Amino acid sequence: MSSSVNKIYLKDYTPPSFAVDSVHLNIKLFEDHATVDSVLNMSRQHQGDLVLFGQNMSLTAISINDQPLQPSEYQLDDTQLVIANAPDTAVVKISVRHQPQKNTELEGLYIAGEGDDVMFVTQCEPEGFRKITYYPDRPDVLSVFTTRLEADKKFPTLLANGDLIESGEVAEDSSRHYAVWHDTSKKPSYLFACVFADLAVLEDRYTTIEDREVKLEIYAKAHDIDKCHVAMQALKDSMQWDEENYGRAYDLDRYMIVAVSQFNMGAMENKGLNIFNTSCVLSSPETTTDARSFSVKSIIAHEYFHNWTGNRVTCRDWFQLCLKEGLTVFRDQSFSADHQSPAVQRIDDVSMLRAHQFSEDAGPLAHPPRPSSFVEINNFYTSTVYEKGAEVVRMLANTLGEKYRQGTDTYFERYDGQAVTVEDWLSALSAQGKSVEHFIDWYTQPGTPEVSGHQNYQYDEQTQLGKLTVSLSQKTRQVEGYDAPKALPIPINAAVFDKRTGAIIEERLLMLDEDSQQFVFDNLATVDGAEPVLSLLRDFSAPVQMRFEHSDEDLAFLLAHETNGFNQWQSAQALVNQILLNQKDPAIYLEAVKKAFLSLAQTDAMLAARILDIPAERELATAVNTNYKPEQMKQKWQGLKQQLADILKAQWTQIYEQLPITQYQDTPEARGQRALRNVVLDMALTAGIDEAHDWAKAQYDNARCMTERLGALSAMINHQHPDKAEMLADFYQRFNQEALVMDLWFSVQASDDNASVAEVAALIERKDFDWGTPNRIRAVVGSFAAQPTKLWTPQGVQLYISVVRKLDETNPVLASRLLQALSRWYTLAEPMREQAKQQLQQLSSQIKSKNVTESLQTLLKA
Ligand code: PHE
Ligand code: ZN
Repeated sequence: MSSSVNKIYLKDYTPPSFAVDSVHLNIKLFEDHATVDSVLNMSRQHQGDLVLFGQNMSLTAISINDQPLQPSEYQLDDTQLVIANAPDTAVVKISVRHQPQKNTELEGLYIAGEGDDVMFVTQCEPEGFRKITYYPDRPDVLSVFTTRLEADKKFPTLLANGDLIESGEVAEDSSRHYAVWHDTSKKPSYLFACVFADLAVLEDRYTTIEDREVKLEIYAKAHDIDKCHVAMQALKDSMQWDEENYGRAYDLDRYMIVAVSQFNMGAMENKGLNIFNTSCVLSSPETTTDARSFSVKSIIAHEYFHNWTGNRVTCRDWFQLCLKEGLTVFRDQSFSADHQSPAVQRIDDVSMLRAHQFSEDAGPLAHPPRPSSFVEINNFYTSTVYEKGAEVVRMLANTLGEKYRQGTDTYFERYDGQAVTVEDWLSALSAQGKSVEHFIDWYTQPGTPEVSGHQNYQYDEQTQLGKLTVSLSQKTRQVEGYDAPKALPIPINAAVFDKRTGAIIEERLLMLDEDSQQFVFDNLATVDGAEPVLSLLRDFSAPVQMRFEHSDEDLAFLLAHETNGFNQWQSAQALVNQILLNQKDPAIYLEAVKKAFLSLAQTDAMLAARILDIPAERELATAVNTNYKPEQMKQKWQGLKQQLADILKAQWTQIYEQLPITQYQDTPEARGQRALRNVVLDMALTAGIDEAHDWAKAQYDNARCMTERLGALSAMINHQHPDKAEMLADFYQRFNQEALVMDLWFSVQASDDNASVAEVAALIERKDFDWGTPNRIRAVVGSFAAQPTKLWTPQGVQLYISVVRKLDETNPVLASRLLQALSRWYTLAEPMREQAKQQLQQLSSQIKSKNVTESLQTLLKA
């Protein structure tokens, strides 16, 4: 590991010296290499050298204004080409050659699939374009692209951004053909994309509110094309949603989506040509669970929404990544909340935030949504940038109320076609007369604020009115390398409940923006003058750890009476945390949650399926900063689950029988029923109800969709069903032609509680464990890492690290992301802490990539 890694600082930002007014690319794909000839029409904007970034390629020709350059006239190294005395107007022509056939990094122009399914696709965000050709590859250089693609006719599908303006056979070689694409919109190079493939297409149309007829096309392997209908509908829904909710219409005549099996992330918003991980676009009832299918819709929406938040208005530099990602995640969460129970949507989003972002923010990888330095920007596609970034936008939207929409209108009007900063965003939002500029601290300060507090009640016998005083204070930990934390503006949605009637008597937004503050609810008329119950942070109005001194009785009250579904769930979570982390007696919780569950099971199946949630061990562990013993935590976790299963033992049978398998429907109600049925099945097995073994088997055999089938299969696996091996084999038989379903097959086994580390290792040894497909790797390694008792063993850490080491050579982006899951190693109890540390230190000498180097160095600083 090289000891000094090159850090880049936000404060060093300088604008580019040259603009690219237009660019022509001619990309020719051959059997064992590719050539790229480019013409860059450049003009000087500022003093300075003309800097072009480029990696992993050989330069075969370069000229300026048709004068070939001599090697002495430029400086070339592994990462850039610098021309010192370029004229103010420069037509730069460059030819390069590289080998996409050997590119395993899934960045730049790379090979995906194998055999007859081979295709070549690009991934440019954040800095992949520089692996295609020399270019000022930075987001503040926007240009108009024309792209000519040429390849053997065995790749009939030739796609690039914009509109197809020409295509035909190559004159000199009838085995080859070409296509020319032109994108009229100005874009940064990270939004460039092209595809060479043999794909089927699903077509549709959409007419925008501006009366533009848009062709919609989803490209996938012929075998998968019938799994593209869910995505197509979601695309049309998203287009309409953005028109209705943000006044944004689509701006080109074509919108294309391409599905590819080898992809590091979920999907990519390239202008007019999204590239999607197959796992985020393909969906059918038989092969896709409800949860996956729903996330397909939200990812389709996410990438579509980027067209305005990211593409039309883009980022000045990569420090501003959360400007596009936080805002776009908030937009996709809002879209999703309109398509299912908003409470459950919020529960999902917050659970995810707590499990990943809170733990990131609590450890050595902590950084603010807008970092101020980095070594490798790929390491900053984190849940802090995405999910915490979205929470900040949510707070802004709630604080501004109706002015939020005017603010976003101003943002789009002012900055359309520009590359801007978080400050620009806040200034546009603040232009409506209500300033939110002080929210900048949320973007620049790391750490999860802790809000604590208590209530005080005084009752006046004479007036028969009460006064409730709420004292709140905030504290954020000091993260090394950052300024002393400041008090942040924390919007806290509050409701006051009458204890006797269960009704809400007042609702208010409390803005906690000092270290400590008091808020008074006056003139409260409650039945019998009883002290009211306060519900705070409704809908999780700010990304904080709330530690309010609620009594168990008050939490139980809220579990019964809160009308805000999120806070109803949250009161159960608060009780669970008390039990698991503070050794509280579970009796009150069990009684209260039982009641709530039984009533929700009749009225809101989806929420019922969540109300018994116990936070994931990983989330619970965020609260444990030293001497963490995964085994102990797991025993407590299982103990509580057992108590839940037992207290409802007499009811499981009846509830399960109320939920017969029926015709598949993709409605929120039907999804709720299926989710609830799977919870009940698992609980009945936990409670030791003998017949539940038969239910599981029957549910597997009669399943009409993957949610039912997989629910049954994982229940059988986790509860050691006598037929589990047979069912696994059956599952394999049915689906071995479906890569995404085989990912599930791998993942249920890797998540099996009873499986040893050696058994997980055996999954990795299999021939069909494909090191070139991140989905498969995550299916095993991700599921394994979600089980702290398995991960945090000498064998577990060793296995995990061996995967990281191997990927360091072939796919550093993925290797580094996987490594980040080990960031809480230092909280472990000895001797595991020391063992983990030594293994990580050993890794230092074995890795090459800048990505893994940066993550590992940061991780070891803990
Ligand atoms: N920008 C993509 C998104 O969030 C994510 C992505 C980042 C994909 C980097 C690939 C590489 O929609
Ligand atoms: Zn995004």
